[in-house]
Amino acid sequence: METTLIILKPDTVQRQLCGRIISRFEEKGLQIVGLKMAHLKRELVEEHYAPHKGKPFYDGLIRYMTSNPVVILGLRGRNAIEVCRKLMGATFGYNAEPGTIRGDFGISKSMNLVHGSDSVESAARELGLFFQGYEVFDWTPQGLDWLYDATEELGR
Ligand code: RTP
Ligand code: MG
Repeated sequence: METTLIILKPDTVQRQLCGRIISRFEEKGLQIVGLKMAHLKRELVEEHYAPHKGKPFYDGLIRYMTSNPVVILGLRGRNAIEVCRKLMGATFGYNAEPGTIRGDFGISKSMNLVHGSDSVESAARELGLFFQGYEVFDWTPQGLDWLYDATEELGR
């Protein structure tokens, strides 16, 4: 099982799409292990997007991400990082595939509704930035045995 960090960006909150987008992840079988709302401080967003520092879109990205509140999620599941990236779709809404979150809900370039960690390393780094340990809940979904093959996938 992997845990990934998802941010519902300011356009998702403003457009009141949080419920519909969280449903996409839940319907796939991802488990919410952390959830909160925040108006992000500049320092935290700069640290989160540090790998993009110096790129032409960086200043606009920081402005966008600090402009309005966001919703932050920890999502868990098998291959959660890759699964979430696939559900999100390509970075820019105008060329994201229909059926993906960005493909179905947005048409903008940089205002693209969701962030998702892109590797095991960035997931660990980003979860540590946005959640305290006690804010991530290790609960067992009752329906786990109907989501995964218990012998093959859960090691029981
Ligand atoms: P994210 O990190 O937010 O999950 O998005 P991503 O991996 O699909 O895309 P990434 O290359 O990491 O870019 C981070 C965010 O910066 C904004 N962006 N704007 N105007 C532009 O050329 C441009 N390029 C990137 C987007 O908000 C993108 O999600
Ligand atoms: Mg990225």
